[in-house]
Amino acid sequence: SIPPNPGNLFSGKKVVGVDFEQVGPEDKIVIKFSHVVAENTPKGLAANKFKRLAESKTNGRVEVQIFPNAQLYDDDAAIAALQQNQVQMIAPATSKMTYLIPEWQVFDLPYAFRDEEAVKQAMEGELGLKLFSLLEPHGLIGLTMWDNGFKQLTTKKRPIHKLNDIQGLSFRIMDSNILKKQFELFGATPVVTRFSDVYSFLEQDMTDGQENTLSNIYTKRFYEVQDYLTVSDHGYLGYAVITNQEFWNAIPDDIQILLEEAMKETTQWIRVNAKRINEEQLENLTRTQRLRVHYLTATDKAEWKKLLSPVYQQLTSEIGNEYMRFLPK
Ligand code: LMR
Repeated sequence: SIPPNPGNLFSGKKVVGVDFEQVGPEDKIVIKFSHVVAENTPKGLAANKFKRLAESKTNGRVEVQIFPNAQLYDDDAAIAALQQNQVQMIAPATSKMTYLIPEWQVFDLPYAFRDEEAVKQAMEGELGLKLFSLLEPHGLIGLTMWDNGFKQLTTKKRPIHKLNDIQGLSFRIMDSNILKKQFELFGATPVVTRFSDVYSFLEQDMTDGQENTLSNIYTKRFYEVQDYLTVSDHGYLGYAVITNQEFWNAIPDDIQILLEEAMKETTQWIRVNAKRINEEQLENLTRTQRLRVHYLTATDKAEWKKLLSPVYQQLTSEIGNEYMRFLPK
């Protein structure tokens, strides 16, 4: 495994994390970018694309080192490592930011976004900007938001067709109060674990099921240890691409502009391609014949949304209407 980078350090001519006083015009700026998913997912592919674009636009002045699959850090550790400039970019699911900044829970609300276009409006509109401003007191800068897709349920004991089917089961969730509350309203038990432990949790029957995007279910082979998939689209899983403020502000302006360009092009790419990748991976999943797939109808979804609606009041009482009012009506 790769040792954590001690930060602010010269390694030959490479400046990792920027030794702020000492970056000369010949020095190479190294960006360590840590994430937890597989490379053939929307986020994995976007990170690799950003690397290619950033390196070519800066003629190699910037080197981006990507560490996928939580090989460097899981999400919680990555957020702490970013604050200490041990890594310079991360892209955690928005849910992972909620223990630090509860307002980020708005993205966890079930059935809050009709489709990808509504998600895009939220990410690129005032809601995204306001949420980014809350990163600053933590020494962080939000660079952009990336898509993955809508979450689905997988289970082992029994298929989920109706709301009753969920009752009494346990589900692995990301660490977010809204997600906890969502499963409690379902009459189920939520269990928090980090992403890299989900497979073994399911394998050892430590939870009955989990919620995730099709691309994560496929690339992490959850289908090997689950029997049923319900395409419920009940919540959205997207990412905040975040950097360390001190690091970012120390990058020479001309390089910063090129990195911003690379990030913008990558975001445009993921907006167009994330849905396609998830759809392709649903086809791959179907081809494995390991999961029985069930689709909720629009009527089912309306019922699920109604059952889960108390989380909206809960979050409003927690964070006020200042953020909630930007959600699509
Ligand atoms: C999860 O923990 O399920 C997700 O955050 C993984 C990811 O980054 O998509």
